Amino acid sequence: VEFSHLPVMAREVAGYIGCRPGGVYVDGTVGGGGYARELLRGCAEPGDVRLIGMDVDAAALKAAALRLADFTESITLVRRNFREIRDVLDELGIESIDGLMLDLGVSSHQIDDPERGFSFRFDARLDMRMDRRLRLSASEIVNRWDAARLEEIFRDYGEERRARRIAVAIVEARKRGPIETTRELADIIIGALPPHARSSRTIHPATRVFQALRIAVNDELESLRTGLAEGAAALRPGARLVAVSFHSLEDRIVKETFRSLAASCVCPPGLPVCVCEARPVLRVLTRRVLRPAPEEVAENPRARSAKLRAAERI
Ligand SMILES: C[S@@+](CC[C@H](N)C(=O)[O-])C[C@H]1O[C@@H](n2cnc3c(N)ncnc32)[C@H](O)[C@@H]1O
Repeated sequence: VEFSHLPVMAREVAGYIGCRPGGVYVDGTVGGGGYARELLRGCAEPGDVRLIGMDVDAAALKAAALRLADFTESITLVRRNFREIRDVLDELGIESIDGLMLDLGVSSHQIDDPERGFSFRFDARLDMRMDRRLRLSASEIVNRWDAARLEEIFRDYGEERRARRIAVAIVEARKRGPIETTRELADIIIGALPPHARSSRTIHPATRVFQALRIAVNDELESLRTGLAEGAAALRPGARLVAVSFHSLEDRIVKETFRSLAASCVCPPGLPVCVCEARPVLRVLTRRVLRPAPEEVAENPRARSAKLRAAERI
């Protein structure tokens, strides 16, 4: 499958990050290289700049190398999770960076590759691993986790109202044999719903459960929390961190992490005086979240749920 992913809000991201001669930038989710290319194209002397592109997906890194072929002297591509940004920088002998961008979630390439098992649009083996070196897959969760754990992830990561019914239906169905494919799972989910909820005009009834599985398989929310905190700590003063998210759970983590890193006191409420002596680390640049322009959404429907937040290291 050829790598196809239209970057979302790339111009806005590169605009916030900027480019300083001799600067070192990190793209924590390099994907097909769309953001990285936009950033490097905006540099007066790209040869002078260094860009570290991270991704857990080998196919993405291959695509990024091709897309960034004009900038080979500037780029270093590494197959790592951005939650390990501090280790990666240490291994490369880099102390602090001039900017970090994160474009969260899956690429269109991953969703559209039937083999990866991210989508119920194709019948594929349940997988959903962005990093195929890891063992935990959607199949393992669906076939082995108990009903209580399934219910919890469907509720917490999918915001699925009928989490319990669906969890119970899965546990019942797998007594008859393993649930192997995306379609089998989608059918079980639909079968668990009351008839009036089986067809929806807005989203497919399996969407929330699939989102929950994807987040659990890839430990997406923990990666994000760690990556934001470690990334913010690695910025030199004046350097910027930009995150683009695609659903409310991610956006909430970005917003809350920025807020707590921008706070001058993180004491629990109710204390008469501040005892934490916290110092603000970030200044939030996006008072309100930034959304894509209508023209971009018209061109690229995946952009419709994008939310951009940016902050600057103090
Ligand atoms: C939305 S795409 C990025 C697209 C990219 N901005 C572009 O312009 O082509 C997200 C990418 O991040 C990768 N990814 C997701 N979570 C990651 C993580 N915690 N660490 C490293 N890569 C991650 C995925 O494998 C995917 O390739």
